[in-house]
Amino acid sequence: MVTRGPLGFSEVDKSEEPARCVEGMDRMAARPAILESRRRMRELLGAKPGDRMLDVGCGTGEETAELAKLVSPDGSAVGVDLSGTMLAQARQRFASKGLPVDFRAGDANQLEFPDNFFDGCRAERVLQHLDDPARAVAEMARVIRPGAWLVVSAPDWLAATFESGHPEFDQPFTRFFSSLDKSSSVGRQLFRLLLQCGLSDAVVHPFFSILTDLAELETWMRFTNAREKMDRQGTLAKEGFDQVMMRLRSGDPFLLSTPRYIVGARKP
Ligand SMILES: C[S@@+](CC[C@H](N)C(=O)[O-])C[C@H]1O[C@@H](n2cnc3c(N)ncnc32)[C@H](O)[C@@H]1O
Repeated sequence: MVTRGPLGFSEVDKSEEPARCVEGMDRMAARPAILESRRRMRELLGAKPGDRMLDVGCGTGEETAELAKLVSPDGSAVGVDLSGTMLAQARQRFASKGLPVDFRAGDANQLEFPDNFFDGCRAERVLQHLDDPARAVAEMARVIRPGAWLVVSAPDWLAATFESGHPEFDQPFTRFFSSLDKSSSVGRQLFRLLLQCGLSDAVVHPFFSILTDLAELETWMRFTNAREKMDRQGTLAKEGFDQVMMRLRSGDPFLLSTPRYIVGARKP
């Protein structure tokens, strides 16, 4: 049985294996759905040379660096993250590339920038890790100038599904991983949250991410916890859990499908 812990993106530096959060980020960044969603986020942001852009919860900094390329040579892109591990990675990857990019420690709940400072702001897969995503959305809206776009992306874990042909496993397992993040269903709330903090012209792009690889799934969650919780709740006994895991480990197919939302809106 797998014993590695779940990835803890709320507090990467205090998680069991911060380096594995970086590995998880790199795996996600290679998925076609994520690559396409990033392209779409850039399109909505409309960064141009000379602009000042902000990437909140920048992680390993790939998209901050992409923004820096778009605003070069006179603009700048700032990546903010709570995690020293993530910031160190971002700096290692991009600080010497000659880009106008800066990675800083900061909290999405309380951004240390003046009002109306940026020409655009993005936050990708960050809000689900916060207790109060509405507060972070209001902060991001505060620091962009009138006319600028805020573009955010987040999953809707409560609408995700796991399917392996074993409904007695699939349903309780789906319920287990759906509630691991602090704000699991924030994806579906983004449209409302952006409008409620005074932004307008909101556009919504839904998409799905797909996971079919058991080894990758094992990097994202702790199966022993699922096994114990499902047994404790009486939804599936440990023996039943082990039987299905054995089938999956021997190569039986499964599909984990997660709806995700990109929402962009403009400051009036
Ligand atoms: C799942 S990663 C996404 C990283 C990056 N945006 C991407 O899409 O590759 C979530 C990131 O949010 C950061 N984070 C979590 N809570 C935060 C907060 N309150 N303020 C700033 N960053 C935070 C984590 O440290 C982590 O780097």
